Amino acid sequence: MNSRYLTRRQFLITTSAGTATLATAERTAPAVLVRNSATTPAILGGQPIRTKPFHPWPVWREADASAILPVLRSGVWSRGKVVAEAEQRFAQLMGARHCLATANGTNAIITSLRALGVGAGDEVITTPYTFVATIHPILLANALPVFVDIDPETWQIDPEKIEARVTSHTAVILPVHITGGICDMDRINAIAKKHKLKVVEDACEAHLGEWKHRKAGTLGDLGCFSFQTGKILTCGEGGAILGTDERLMDRCYAFHNLGRPHGKYMPRDKGGHPILASKCRMAEYQASILMTQMDKVVEETRRRSENAAYLTSKLKQIAGTVPRKDYPGVTQTAFYFYGFRYKKEHFNGLPRDKFLAALTAEGIPASKGLGVIEERPMNKEGLLEDAFGSKAFQKIYSREKLANYRAENECPQSDQLCEETVGFHQRVLLGTREDMDDIYQAILKIYDNRHRLS
Ligand SMILES: Cc1ncc(COP(=O)(O)O)c(C=O)c1O
Repeated sequence: MNSRYLTRRQFLITTSAGTATLATAERTAPAVLVRNSATTPAILGGQPIRTKPFHPWPVWREADASAILPVLRSGVWSRGKVVAEAEQRFAQLMGARHCLATANGTNAIITSLRALGVGAGDEVITTPYTFVATIHPILLANALPVFVDIDPETWQIDPEKIEARVTSHTAVILPVHITGGICDMDRINAIAKKHKLKVVEDACEAHLGEWKHRKAGTLGDLGCFSFQTGKILTCGEGGAILGTDERLMDRCYAFHNLGRPHGKYMPRDKGGHPILASKCRMAEYQASILMTQMDKVVEETRRRSENAAYLTSKLKQIAGTVPRKDYPGVTQTAFYFYGFRYKKEHFNGLPRDKFLAALTAEGIPASKGLGVIEERPMNKEGLLEDAFGSKAFQKIYSREKLANYRAENECPQSDQLCEETVGFHQRVLLGTREDMDDIYQAILKIYDNRHRLS
């Protein structure tokens, strides 16, 4: 921590103030930082708040190495009993009945939509404020993503706006628990029930997140997870589908395994390859790391939550940094990304890019999102045009439907959020309270110097 940005308590301790003064000050002083507005921002040549790195990610321990070696020695490197064991452990951790491991989160979503029969002419209701891997699977199924705007406070799909977008073509609602915040699953499930729709949760960023004490990813028909390197629970690349309906899960299994019939899903003949499918299996060595990484995920989630709560209490004190909120029904946030809105009007109009550059110069690794929504919301992405120009889309959907698509899928709240998001990767929350103070002090320093920076 930079000594020129001291807490009031530290300031009093390091000055000549006597014990009596300190005792009085401690009783009366709110947790306010002593500010030095004259301190030069690091981006203008001053000392950075911090040069120490934040918590690293991913983190491996001897246990990971010990778990992977027997797999290598066994000669079974493709799907086998280690994957089956990891599935059981993940299902148990999440309170789910069934789990199917997949190659990654993208393929978990592809498999889920396929198992539910989503195809040409179908519509899938989802959010524009998400990672592109939510959208590719919809388009690959030759279905249309139907974008519903976000709730500006929670950043999740706005349940108020979903029903107006349901049509006779709607097949699935695909809510995304974005940044590890949790969607209002009561209202989403109620709408799905009323209109006989299926719900596939994209919980790729929300491991251990909870809605009313039930885990995200276990609340819809199917829940999809990612274990990609940056995720809260990782094995480099990997994914999973959770579900309760055994037959549906068997369909997922069959699809992810080249269409070989599985369990209760035995269409047509009982052997061979009767189902058009893909191959999205997890390998044994991925599963072995996943299991050892699972040992620490509960404790890390607790630590992130504690640090996030502290950071939120601090950021609320700065005009112009507005942390994302949770619905009252959220009993655990996953904090894959700690996000807040950067309101430049409170920073003398300092553009977000310049704010980020100044923050980075102070030693704080902030970003606009995690490759999640770096610039554009998904309803504005080029991949839509690419799909719409394809032979399949041109044949399935009328010219008028595709021509009107952009206008019908405008989501102004999400547009605004994409321009205001600032935040930190989950690893930053795995550090100490002093790390959070450094973040706060760096932002405060920029705030105090806003006139010099803008
Ligand atoms: C919201 C969301 N959906 C889907 C995915 C896809 O997961 P994966 O990268 O494992 O394919 C990710 C993660 O990258 C994600 O953040």
